[in-house]
Amino acid sequence: MRLRHVKGAKEKIKNHPEFIIDHKKGDRLLLDEQFNKDKIHVEIGMGKGQFIYTLAQNNPDIQFVGIEKYDSVIVRALEKLIEEPLDNLLLLRADANFLLDFFNENSLDRVYLTFSDPWPKNRHEKRRLTHHRFLKMYETLLKDDGDLHFKTDNDPFFEYSVESIESYPMTITYLTHNLHDDSNHPNIMTEFEEKFKKLNQHINKLVAEF
Ligand SMILES: C[S@@+](CC[C@H](N)C(=O)[O-])C[C@H]1O[C@@H](n2cnc3c(N)ncnc32)[C@H](O)[C@@H]1O
Repeated sequence: MRLRHVKGAKEKIKNHPEFIIDHKKGDRLLLDEQFNKDKIHVEIGMGKGQFIYTLAQNNPDIQFVGIEKYDSVIVRALEKLIEEPLDNLLLLRADANFLLDFFNENSLDRVYLTFSDPWPKNRHEKRRLTHHRFLKMYETLLKDDGDLHFKTDNDPFFEYSVESIESYPMTITYLTHNLHDDSNHPNIMTEFEEKFKKLNQHINKLVAEF
């Protein structure tokens, strides 16, 4: 993804610790210890945050955490929160490679991966958020009845992810290649998803459990 530099993003992030945490390598955040809700749902690579902001608005009893590694992107979600605060959404400017520093084991109820970068080159396979390396981290952090929700427009990445998830092994409890045609499955669109929908591209989605 090409990123635009957003002037003042770093400063804004620093000035709003009530809405956003800026993770530094080595920080053991263990965020779940500061929440008072029974359920915690996390989106990894949330971009500008439309999806998780809407989920948090619609589900006040769930604590949401939106993780995104780039200041210039996450600042858009921060601006939304400054304008209309929500007490059940925390933003985390961080790289998902350090996921085990953010929460305690068995503390999460759901992980969302939404239009994650596909990293198509073989030599970058380990960076894919559905590589076994990441699945292992989700398994550590999710409660026994927790689940993983993954959606993408990218067919080869979806195929790779199905294989990776099944061979881990995890159990796939829902799978579609046409999410927008399934009126029985609730869906909130991300920014990327809206763009793909306008281009009439189909969207793949799966839900899986350990
Ligand atoms: C293709 S965008 C999708 C954004 C959003 N989920 C959507 O659907 O509109 C992927 C996002 O994931 C973020 N990302 C990729 N790898 C990440 C990582 N290791 N940790 C945190 N964020 C990551 C990127 O910076 C980018 O904003």
